[in-house]
Amino acid sequence: MKIVVIGGTGLIGSKLIKKLVEQRHEAIAAAPNTGVNTLTGEGLAEVLKGAAVVVDVSNSPSWEEAAVLKFFETSTRNLLTYEAAAGVRHHVALSVVGTDRLSDSGYFRAKIAQEKLITESSIPYSIVHATQFFEFLKGLADISMVGDKVHLPHVLFQPMAADDVASGVARVAVGQPVNGVVEIAGPQPFRLDELVRRRLASLKDPREVIADPNASYDGAKVSVKTLLPGNDAQLGETRFDTWLAQNAGTAVAA
Ligand SMILES: NC(=O)c1ccc[n+]([C@@H]2O[C@H](COP(=O)([O-])OP(=O)(O)OC[C@H]3O[C@@H](n4cnc5c(N)ncnc54)[C@H](OP(=O)(O)O)[C@@H]3O)[C@@H](O)[C@H]2O)c1
Repeated sequence: MKIVVIGGTGLIGSKLIKKLVEQRHEAIAAAPNTGVNTLTGEGLAEVLKGAAVVVDVSNSPSWEEAAVLKFFETSTRNLLTYEAAAGVRHHVALSVVGTDRLSDSGYFRAKIAQEKLITESSIPYSIVHATQFFEFLKGLADISMVGDKVHLPHVLFQPMAADDVASGVARVAVGQPVNGVVEIAGPQPFRLDELVRRRLASLKDPREVIADPNASYDGAKVSVKTLLPGNDAQLGETRFDTWLAQNAGTAVAA
């Protein structure tokens, strides 16, 4: 099957391409540096020729409120238009567990807009909601700074390894469209502030992490269970301790 992966050069995209190729699919990475730009439409008609499935694991280069909204709205609209013309039979997009509960955040308003365009389009679809990636824990610290300290709420979340995210997305991409949401998550829940503290320690990053009841998650007010997946979530195998043992000292972009 020809499967085009938009954002196929990124953290999840590159792992996903590898897994699909191992399963003997024709998996094509599409991103600006392979000549495909979903914001301008450049290269889309050519790369989608003969594609059965499109998986969108792209991300906005800027998370500034207006820029991220423009990215997800414009690129999703362009993608769906070109997919309809090319006869694509399944649109798969990666989003985040709890997106609909996080609308105080500009980033999540953009993800909500992306999902709305997909659900309203005529193309059969599956939206994969993943929890936070282990690889994103340092990034989470970076976006949660107040002065020189990291402020995070003491809430539950159930993060997962990027490799398990890619496996979950691959599973959905080769299956039938669900015309709904599939949740994937890590094997264990943790407290947000505690895990970020452990990750920074493993990187010898000296920033102090404060458990702050007034802190937000990327601008969104969260309660203790807002970030947790539902009971039907498919769980990845990789435990945090195993991942940390393999990645201590190595910052991974996410
Ligand atoms: N971080 C988390 O914990 C988390 C949790 C759940 C879901 N997600 C979702 O996971 C998705 C992927 O995240 P990631 O960390 O794998 O992203 P990433 O590593 O930042 O990769 C982003 C990809 O998007 C591509 N891209 C950027 N602008 C583009 C454009 N105009 N046209 C086509 N492609 C473009 C990039 O290509 P270049 O490299 O050429 O710029 C790159 O391949 C996001 O949608 C995010 O919302 C994230």
